Amino acid sequence: MSATTASPAPAAPRHALPDPGVAVPSISWPIVAIFSGAIAVFAFSTWAALGDRLPAPATIALSATAIFVLFTVLHDAAHYSISTRRWVNVAFGRVAMLFVSPLISFKSFAFIHIEHHRNTNDGENDPDHFVSGAPLWQVPVRFGLMDLPYLAFLVRNVKRRPRAEVLETSFLLVTVVAVIVTAASTGHLWTLAVLYLIPERIAVFVLAWWFDWLPHHDLEDTQQENRYRATRNRVGSEWILTPLLLSQNYHLVHHLHPSIPFYRYIAAWRRNEEAYLERDAAIGTVFGQQLDTDEYREWKRLNGKMARLLPVRMPRQSSARAAVFHPVRVAGVDRLTDDSVLIRFDVPDDLRDQFSFEPGQHLTLRTDLGGEGVRRNYSICAPATSDTLAIAVKHIPGGAFSTFAMEQLRPGHTLDLMTPTGSFGTPLDPLATKNYVAIAAGSGITPVLSILQTTLAVETESRFTLIYGNRDADSTMFRDELDELEARYADRLRIIHVRSRDPRHPAHLRGRVDRPRLEELLGSDLPATSVDRWFLCGPVAMVTDLRDLLVERGAEPDRVHVELFHGYQKPRVADGFSPATVAVSLRGRQHEVALAAGDTVLESALKAGLEAPYACLGGACGTCKAKVLLGSVSMEQNFALAPAVVEAGYVLTCQSHPTTPSVAVDYDV
Ligand code: FES
Repeated sequence: MSATTASPAPAAPRHALPDPGVAVPSISWPIVAIFSGAIAVFAFSTWAALGDRLPAPATIALSATAIFVLFTVLHDAAHYSISTRRWVNVAFGRVAMLFVSPLISFKSFAFIHIEHHRNTNDGENDPDHFVSGAPLWQVPVRFGLMDLPYLAFLVRNVKRRPRAEVLETSFLLVTVVAVIVTAASTGHLWTLAVLYLIPERIAVFVLAWWFDWLPHHDLEDTQQENRYRATRNRVGSEWILTPLLLSQNYHLVHHLHPSIPFYRYIAAWRRNEEAYLERDAAIGTVFGQQLDTDEYREWKRLNGKMARLLPVRMPRQSSARAAVFHPVRVAGVDRLTDDSVLIRFDVPDDLRDQFSFEPGQHLTLRTDLGGEGVRRNYSICAPATSDTLAIAVKHIPGGAFSTFAMEQLRPGHTLDLMTPTGSFGTPLDPLATKNYVAIAAGSGITPVLSILQTTLAVETESRFTLIYGNRDADSTMFRDELDELEARYADRLRIIHVRSRDPRHPAHLRGRVDRPRLEELLGSDLPATSVDRWFLCGPVAMVTDLRDLLVERGAEPDRVHVELFHGYQKPRVADGFSPATVAVSLRGRQHEVALAAGDTVLESALKAGLEAPYACLGGACGTCKAKVLLGSVSMEQNFALAPAVVEAGYVLTCQSHPTTPSVAVDYDV
C-alpha cells in the first residue's frame, strides 16, 4: 500500500454537495432481509453443531459470516438509518449488538462510533485509531482485539455517559464473564468456543480489517481537518467487493453522509461524484493504488460510466405578497413530551407556494375557542427543504390554545394559518463553510431545529453547535430527533445539553444556560469571533443577557440573531405622541387611516378595519413588519428586526408611533 500525504488545499468547489442522507426509509427492507438471513444462518449452524450434523470448521465459518453481516445491521442502527422510527433502530441495534460484541451495550457502541466519525484519524480521540493507525506488523493482532480500545474509551468517558447506559454495559460485561466461567467449569467451553467465541473473534477481525483499516489507514488528514480525505473509497471490482464488503468499499460516502443506508452508498457517490472530486476526495483502487482526481478521471474513463449531478434543494420564501390567513387542515398531533405536542398540517397543493418558508420563520394561527377568538404565534420546527409544515406547542398552565392543543386538537380539525413570517434565520449558500452556534432553552428549540436541519442539509461543509437548556431529559423537546441528527451529522453537529434538575446529567453540564456558562464556553472552545452566526431563542432575560455578552466579547451585533416568543411586558409608552395620518399599503391596495394620539401604526390600521398582520403585539415576532415610505416613527421596543433591517427602513408597526404628522407604510415589501 502506498502512503498518502496530507492534501494541498483543493480549488474552490463549483458544485454544491447535495445531502442524500435525508432519505431515511420508513423501514429498510434490505436490513430486515440481511438481519433475518443472518439470524437464520446462525440458528441453523448452532442447531446443526449441537446435533453433530456439521463439522466444527463449517459451524465456525457460517456463524462468523452471520455475525459479520449483523454488524451492518448494528452499524445502520447506530446511525438511525434503518427506520424513521427511533425505536426500530434501537431494537435492531440491541439484538445485533449481542452477536457482534456482547461486552458493550448498543447505546455505548453508538456513542463510541459517533466519536469515531467526529474524530476520524485523530490519534487522541478516535477510538478506531487503534486499528487504522497501527504499525503494519501489529495489524493482525489488533484486528482481533478491536473491542478492547472501545472499552478503554468508554472508561475514559464514563462521566459523559448516562448512568443507565454505564450500568447496562457493566451488566453485559459481568454476564459474559459469568457465562464463560460457567461453560469452562461445566466442561462446555469448547462447545461455546465453536458456537460463538471463535466465530465472533473471526468476525471482529474481518470487521476491523474491512470497516476500519481499509478505508482509513495511511490517511493523514483527520475528519476535522478535511472530511473528504479522512476516509477513502476503494473503486473497481464493485461487482464482487460491494456484496462482499456490504458496500464498505465506498466508506467515504458513509462518513460524509452517515445516515444513508448501506445499500445506497454507491448511488450517492455516482449522483454527486463531481462535487466530491472537486473536494479532492480520497480514492484508492481495489489493489491499493491511491488516485488523485485526475488519475481517477482517467481510471474511470477506462473503466466506468459517467455520473450525474442533482441540484441542491433550497428553502423558498412564501409567495404571499403580505401575510394572509388560510384555513388549513391538521394532519397529525403527536406527543413530544408530557407537556408539549407536535402539530403537522396538511397544506393543500394550491397553497404550497404560499406556505413555503425559510428556516426560523413562524406561523400565526387563529381559531375560535368557545366563542373567544385566539391568535397565537408558533415557530415552524421542520426543515425548510422538506414538504412538512409543523409547529410544536408547549403547554402553558391556563393557556387557552396550548390547553386546547394538548387535550382536544385532533387530525382533521381546521385552523386559520397565516402564511409564514419572521426573519430569525439567515440566507444559506450551498458552497459556504461556516460555523454556526445556536443557544436555546425549552421550547426555544423550535425555530432552531428548523435552522439547524436546513443549514446542515444545504451547507454541507458548515458546522453547527447547539447549546440546549432544559429541566431534565424527559422535558427535552425533540430529544430523539436531536440524537438522530447528531448521529447523522456526526462530524458537523455538536449538541451540548444543559440540564437544571437532572442529577444523572454530567456534573459540568448541570445548571442553566446563563452568562457564566456561556462565558466558560467562550473562554474555551467557542471564541465569539470564531462563530459566523449566533441564534438565540428562549426567555427574554436569557436571550438579552447572552446577546449583550456576545457583543461585549466581540461578536458583531448583526451576526447575533435573537428570537423571542414574547417581548417585554413593559408599560405602554403612549404619552408624548400626536395624532397623525397614516397611508397604508396592504396586499396591493392603498388606504388612508386616522391615527389617534398614543396609538401605534398597527392599532390605527386595525381600528380602520384593515387585516394588517400581527401576532405577539410585543415587538418579538416580526409579523407586523412594514417599510416606512414617508415620514418617521419611533419604536417602543424591537426584538425581531436586525439593525441592518431597521437601517433599511423597516419597523414593527405594533411598536411604532408616528413622529411626523403624515406617515406612509407598506406591508407588501
Ligand atoms: S406583532 Fe409581533 S412584533 Fe409586532
